[in-house]
Amino acid sequence: GLDRLAELGPVRARVDYGEIPGLGVGTVAGHAGRLLLLDGPAGPLLCFAGRRHIYEGIEPAAAVLPVRLAARLGVQNLILTNAAGGLAARLWPGDLMLLADHIDLMPRNPLAGPHDRRLGPRFPDMSEPYDPRLRAALRLAAKDEAIALHEGVYAGLAGPNYETRAEVRMLRRLGADAVGMSTVPEVLAARQAGLRVAALSLITNSHVHPAPPPTHEEVLAMAAGAADRLRRLIQRLLKTSVMG
Ligand code: HPA
Repeated sequence: GLDRLAELGPVRARVDYGEIPGLGVGTVAGHAGRLLLLDGPAGPLLCFAGRRHIYEGIEPAAAVLPVRLAARLGVQNLILTNAAGGLAARLWPGDLMLLADHIDLMPRNPLAGPHDRRLGPRFPDMSEPYDPRLRAALRLAAKDEAIALHEGVYAGLAGPNYETRAEVRMLRRLGADAVGMSTVPEVLAARQAGLRVAALSLITNSHVHPAPPPTHEEVLAMAAGAADRLRRLIQRLLKTSVMG
């Protein structure tokens, strides 16, 4: 639902995922599935509009193929976006959260299996997955654009069901501020490949401020509303020198 992010610059080329061997076609409404090459404010930008999720029942390695493809094409900075449920009381639907760290609660790991040295080290460091300089630049960009930007820990679960109340209590105790069903596999592959990573969550619902659970349509509507703020944030980031 964050398609408008693609409006970061003029489109130079467009490839449907179906035309890229192994990328396949997404199965979830709102996840378009195309790769764009854009003229960004400070250089070429690859925009992967649409991702695969573990809950589709795919191999975890298939979910991280865009990241590995980007790395092989020479990409150095990766900015990931996602929708997430708020666990911290300070987070409300519509808020943006910069990932400070994550907790991997996915059942399978995309780095597991025979080791291909071209993908990076067998045992990648994960002590600081989210690049401090990119994070600082995003905080500054948010300030410049007068966009409220929270920061917190993202718990990645496979889904596709939402969390029980007991799971919400568990996740809060574990130190998670938000919970979602993506991003963590991509971050693992990106860090293995040596990419600098930043990730932003759109909080679409809260697990602590009572409200009926959102429908998938409501999640998409909120994403459309927040996409403009996200685009401005990233556009401003791209104009800073930190990406070089
Ligand atoms: N839980 C998991 N994933 C999500 C949620 C949630 O509450 N909201 C959006 N994606």
